[in-house]
Formats: sequence, C-alpha cells, structure tokens
Amino acid sequence: MTVTTFIIFTFIEVLLLALLLLVAYFCINGILTVPWVRTRRQLVDVMFDMAKVKKGETIVDFGSGDGSIVIEMTEMGAIGIGIERLKPLVWLSRFKAKRKGLSNKARFIQGDIFKTKPPEADVIFLYLFTEFNARLEPIFLKHYPSGTRIVSRDFTFPNLPLIKTKNVKGTKLHFYKIP
Ligand SMILES: C[S@@+](CC[C@H](N)C(=O)[O-])C[C@H]1O[C@@H](n2cnc3c(N)ncnc32)[C@H](O)[C@@H]1O
Repeated sequence: MTVTTFIIFTFIEVLLLALLLLVAYFCINGILTVPWVRTRRQLVDVMFDMAKVKKGETIVDFGSGDGSIVIEMTEMGAIGIGIERLKPLVWLSRFKAKRKGLSNKARFIQGDIFKTKPPEADVIFLYLFTEFNARLEPIFLKHYPSGTRIVSRDFTFPNLPLIKTKNVKGTKLHFYKIP
C-alpha cells in the first residue's frame, strides 16, 4: 500500500466515521436506548485474554457497533460474528473487514439481537445496558451450551454466576460462563 493510498483510505474512513457519528447522534436522541460507543483496542486485547479465546474459536459480539471487537479478534485468530441493528454501522464493519482482508473470518448480521437467531459461539461479548443483559440472559441460557464464556463490558447479568470482574482504568469487564 502506498502512502497516498493510505492517506486516501484514512480520509475516507474519517469521513465515514464523522457521518456515522452524526447519524448515531440523531438515532440516540430519537430512537436508540444504547448508543454506539466503540471499545478501544487495548480493551479488546484484555477481553480476548480474559475469555482465553483460542485460535479458530467463534466469538459473537451482540450489538457490534463498527465491528471493532469482531475485526480485532479475528486479527488475533478467532472467527468473528457481529450482530448490529444500525445499517450504516454494519456497512462500515463490512467495509473495514474487507479492507483488512478479513471478510472470510468476520461476518456481520444486520438485525435486532432479540429477534436474530443466536449464532453458534464459544465466547460472547457485549457492551449493552443491564436491562438488555437481563433480556438476553434467558436467550443465552436456552441457546448456548454449558461452558460458553461471556464477557460483558461495564454491565452485569441478574442471575448468571459471576466468575470475576476486572477493572481496566475505570472500565469493568465481567466474566461469566453458562452454567
Ligand atoms: C455501546 S455500543 C458497543 C459496540 C461494540 N460492541 C463495541 O464494544 O465496540 C452498543 C451497540 O449495540 C447496538 N444495539 C443496541 N441495541 C441493539 C439491538 N436491539 N440489536 C442490535 N444492536 C443493538 C447499538 O446500535 C450500538 O452500536
């Protein structure tokens, strides 16, 4: 990749991000209850280690935003699936995965996490609200086998037995396993 190509790609990505932020802003104020907030790379690394994700394992991010967790975990050897209801964020996720040559490892489903059939997963990641986790808990218990790992950023589940919580510079990561 030449410097010019890199600059053009970066410029396009910044423009797309700015546009998406604007869209997200209106959506948040008008419709959404969980805003799009991206999990940064350093935290994704900690989440990956915390869940002990192994090469070839499938991870699912419920409410995948711009696909950061899915894409970065596939870069580390996982197979990634993201479910996200906002179309522009799904388009951005697919664009980012394609640009990195990861389209065959990172898949994005556009839809509502409560209406989409839960994909097979070894590890589940979430950064939603407590009430969303509470609604997802019975779905997870029904669909996922014992031992499936779950890492939830900042928000807990009402009944799942908490295994540990890690505090990373003020951000809490809660680790669970399906009993
Ligand atoms: C806080 S962001 C987290 C994004 C990503 N998981 C990350 O950590 O970088 C929450 C995301 O969940 C999405 N979301 C909220 N409710 C949803 C629903 N019912 N179905 C699918 N996605 C949803 C939002 O659009 C938003 O992108």
